[in-house]
Amino acid sequence: MGIMSFPLLIMILIAFPLSSSGGKWTYDGPVGEHHWSRNYPYCGGAFQSPINFQPELLRFDPDLQPIQLQDYNLSSKEQLTLSNNGHSVQLSLPSRMHLSGLPHRYSAAQLHFHWGSSNTPTGSEHTINGKQFAAEMHLVHFNSAKYPNISVAVDKSDGLAVLGIFIEVGEFNPAFDQFLKYVNGIKYKGQKVQVAGFNIRELLPARLDEYYRYDGSLTTPPCYPSVLWTVFRNPVSMSLRQYLALATSLFSSQAQESAPMPLFGNYRKTQLMDNRVVLVSFQQGWGLHGATSVASPMQRTLVIQQLLNGDLADLADGGLHHLLPKLQRKPWAVKNWRNNPKQQRLGQATEKHQKNKDLDTTGNNPSVWKNTHASSYMGMFGINDDALCFVSLEKNVSVRLRRHHADAQMSQALRKAVFPELNLKSYLNCRSDLDLQTIRHLLRSRPTDEANELDQALTKVSQGHKQRSMTQYQGSALTKLTGQTQAAVLKNSHNMVPTNHRLQPMEWED
Ligand SMILES: *[C@@H]1O[C@H](CO)[C@@H](O)[C@H](O)[C@H]1NC(C)=O
Ligand SMILES: *[C@@H]1O[C@H](CO)[C@@H](O)[C@H](O)[C@H]1NC(C)=O
Ligand SMILES: *[C@@H]1O[C@H](CO)[C@@H](O)[C@H](O)[C@H]1NC(C)=O
Ligand SMILES: [Zn+2]
Repeated sequence: MGIMSFPLLIMILIAFPLSSSGGKWTYDGPVGEHHWSRNYPYCGGAFQSPINFQPELLRFDPDLQPIQLQDYNLSSKEQLTLSNNGHSVQLSLPSRMHLSGLPHRYSAAQLHFHWGSSNTPTGSEHTINGKQFAAEMHLVHFNSAKYPNISVAVDKSDGLAVLGIFIEVGEFNPAFDQFLKYVNGIKYKGQKVQVAGFNIRELLPARLDEYYRYDGSLTTPPCYPSVLWTVFRNPVSMSLRQYLALATSLFSSQAQESAPMPLFGNYRKTQLMDNRVVLVSFQQGWGLHGATSVASPMQRTLVIQQLLNGDLADLADGGLHHLLPKLQRKPWAVKNWRNNPKQQRLGQATEKHQKNKDLDTTGNNPSVWKNTHASSYMGMFGINDDALCFVSLEKNVSVRLRRHHADAQMSQALRKAVFPELNLKSYLNCRSDLDLQTIRHLLRSRPTDEANELDQALTKVSQGHKQRSMTQYQGSALTKLTGQTQAAVLKNSHNMVPTNHRLQPMEWED
């Protein structure tokens, strides 16, 4: 309180100069995380990261494939840039390194760390049921199939894929020493050194098949909600000495600044869930809340692509169930399907076409389409579609087009409006993903025999089982959950897509 003394005012102006490009930010103090949204509106928006992986939010998804790392073994002749950007230690990565098994090719850009202080080694960003680890590493990748570089991808809803790795203090980790031994050369903000390439795979946990998956954001300003997060279940270790190298060697200030500011505690608090769920690739160890699961954004993308351009026979047998509410699968549904000669024909076509699919080199992983629940989706139409999928984007598009008597433009509108928003859509917890009406519209734009057969089969099954399941599921946990979600979705539908914030080219880390 009181009038600020002149030297103090000068100090504050030096420490926090007004900036034209979005502004300086820190984790604490007057430009700390609580104030980020003043200069970076997305930080105060929806779908932010990190989050706490609470058991109630987790949904087992049997279709999540192990993460596949490509070209991660770098030659020692390759030079990587290790830098201090004032917020973290960052190691540049060549874009040849990439992830496969996702719907797009995601190329590597950089990795960096978040950590605690020297006396409180709790600095991970994500937490597992409230447990915070000592540190967290982020391997940042961008959608290189769609965007020319990471600067263009960073604010797109399908722009980034980040791998998160928990770090605990324990055994010495030789992989981290490949670059941690050079941190004394980058003590101050803006400093860089070159380090020799090594096998980046060694920085990751042994098991790449156990992870949490959700849609979120950069954890630093400008906090764009553009990240498909994969956070591995199992931590890696580093020694206390290695941890202290991170926590005590670095400054967030530049070398010439008179008051050096130590760099530690560079993690953001966990954020609200905004109706999101977290898909989990493993079943043991978090309690069995996995009675229901939902399709991931990438599965939806694949299925919509298939509906628009792809092989419908494959879809009938392989992928359409991803778009439908996943409840207990009903054996009678499979039987109906198998007994219908038309549908059997579709099934045979699938096997034939699967061969071609396996040769697909466009980056789509054919294994995503193979699944053990072939045809069982037919039983899931019984649920009232409206009750499960409220304010979905495709419904919105469809309503608006119908209002303007422009049904024919459905496919194009979906391609334009729904595709880019698929990540955002999943935030709405829209559990049935595409309503039957929309699927029909899409099929109508493809006047092939296959499309007609599929459409007829869908109609038949949905009519046949609607009444039955309406009573079957009344009063179930699902109805309750649906009610809650509906309220939440309606509440949130207003600020769903922030449109009037101007994007500025700014510094960002992940
Ligand atoms: C990585 O590449 C080096 C040669 O550059 C090779 O000696 C080593 O065996 C490779 N490691 C793995 C795990 O493939
Ligand atoms: C990224 O690509 C865009 C569009 O091609 C280009 O204008 C921009 O200069 C590129 N940025 C970088 C950092 O390469
Ligand atoms: C549909 O989206 C538009 C903007 O794209 C929005 O103004 C409108 O409120 C939405 N309608 C519904 C029913 O969600
Ligand atoms: Zn990060």
